[in-house]
Amino acid sequence: MARILVTQKLVAGGDTRLRASGHEVVQRNDDGPMPAADLIAASDQFDAIVCLLSDRISAQVLHETTTLKVVGNVAVGVDNIDREAAAAAGVTIVNTPGVLDAATADIALLLMLSTRRGASAAEADLRAGRWAGWSLGDHLGQDLTGATVGLVGYGRIGQAVARRLEGFDATVLHHTRSDTGLSGWTASLLGLAARSDVLSIHVPSSADTHHLIDGEVLAALPSGAVVINTARGPVLDEEALADALFAGRIAGAGLDVFDGEPHVNPRLLEAPGCTLLPHIGSATVAVRRAMCDLACAGVLAVLAGETPANIVAP
Ligand code: DGY
Repeated sequence: MARILVTQKLVAGGDTRLRASGHEVVQRNDDGPMPAADLIAASDQFDAIVCLLSDRISAQVLHETTTLKVVGNVAVGVDNIDREAAAAAGVTIVNTPGVLDAATADIALLLMLSTRRGASAAEADLRAGRWAGWSLGDHLGQDLTGATVGLVGYGRIGQAVARRLEGFDATVLHHTRSDTGLSGWTASLLGLAARSDVLSIHVPSSADTHHLIDGEVLAALPSGAVVINTARGPVLDEEALADALFAGRIAGAGLDVFDGEPHVNPRLLEAPGCTLLPHIGSATVAVRRAMCDLACAGVLAVLAGETPANIVAP
């Protein structure tokens, strides 16, 4: 029998498999990230940890462990886990690929529509009693229909976004480092930006992608373009984005993720044309339950000596 720590409350039904496994499950009764000191102490007492993306599984946690075999991250992004340290410590990481693609793509579309049509500012006007009645020139936005959308990254979520955009008669381009061989591939990121009315980010956070979308990329966008980020905050240089927004060089940004969450760059809170969401890309009951279940299933499989499909490559 293994000992499994669950660092935060899971969605109802998401831990059924874990509970039925016969292993000892220690559930921390909290909705917030587990403090670093507690994680370090726990790393020597448990065979497995099921954690959320807000828990930081640092090198220190992983260096100290003599017992830990597997970490199950209830997220597809694993930038909260030191992968190098995990590999060095022989700790396997499992995550939740696939089950959140559609929900996250839906939120990307929501942000595209909201920013192109100025929905957040229009709603704020209405709520503040500033709406004097229908008028021809009020709250004019830009169409998503027929726009050119540049996808930075073209994995499962990027492709799910592309499928949805077929319904908007959009021209969809994508940039990845190596040629996908698929229609719309654009070798140069700056070249992609120069053609994009909407630039949407779909790459994981890593040292390679840190500030991939920087001032130079933002400057290459056509005026009136919008930037969408449903991936990870650090991929986008938020200061450069705020500069572009305040200068009126681009029309808006739709952001579901932020650098240093839950902190939000105060300039973005004030910047024009923004729709800002609190990282809800995967936030449906069914998807969050599926994420919990997939992470737990991966953990149990690793503990049973199996090689589940959701192992994150070291
Ligand atoms: C993930 O799984 O990485 C998402 O960001 C959670 O919504």
